[in-house]
Amino acid sequence: MLAAIALAVGAMIGFIQPGGNKNAMVVDKGSAPAAMPGVQVGGPYTLINQDGNEVTDKSYSGYKLVYFGFTMCPMICPTGLQKIAKTLDLMGRQGENITPILISVDPERDTPPVMKEYVKQFHPRLVGLTGSKEQIESVEKSYRVFANKVEDESSTEYSMDHSSFTYLMSPDGQLLGLYRDSDTAEFMADDIRKKIGG
Ligand code: NI
Repeated sequence: MLAAIALAVGAMIGFIQPGGNKNAMVVDKGSAPAAMPGVQVGGPYTLINQDGNEVTDKSYSGYKLVYFGFTMCPMICPTGLQKIAKTLDLMGRQGENITPILISVDPERDTPPVMKEYVKQFHPRLVGLTGSKEQIESVEKSYRVFANKVEDESSTEYSMDHSSFTYLMSPDGQLLGLYRDSDTAEFMADDIRKKIGG
């Protein structure tokens, strides 16, 4: 399982470094696993929740499922967040020990009130975190998230290109699992059960 995490982290690093080690990207094609010793994912953060209160990584006890996205995302984020909600539902009472967290990659538009309206569409316990540009850049960096503003000539609104992994974090902030868009809620629920025991 740790090897799988190393592979996925390798894919993420490949993703955030265009022109870098492309071998790290081909994780689905049976390429030799690139070990990622010492790669740390996650870490301390200070952000603002959907109620406008300052929170840190220590504010949520227990396990966490962390997703990075933005509220104006047309497709990927809603699908990912629905899948997280379904995963928790599938896990029943065990799912109640896991806090789902959305961290915005678009703090300019995702103010706390915008986040509040958004998160409640997906799950009653979904936490929506945003912050200053610097705070968001810092948390993106520690989670190795790729996020980039994309201007759209046909619209006055910009979009965001962003990586869309779901991170399973332990109560003490260690990365336990990393899930992709292609992983189903059933797979995630099963895998999370194995990782957190019971
Ligand atoms: Ni998105």
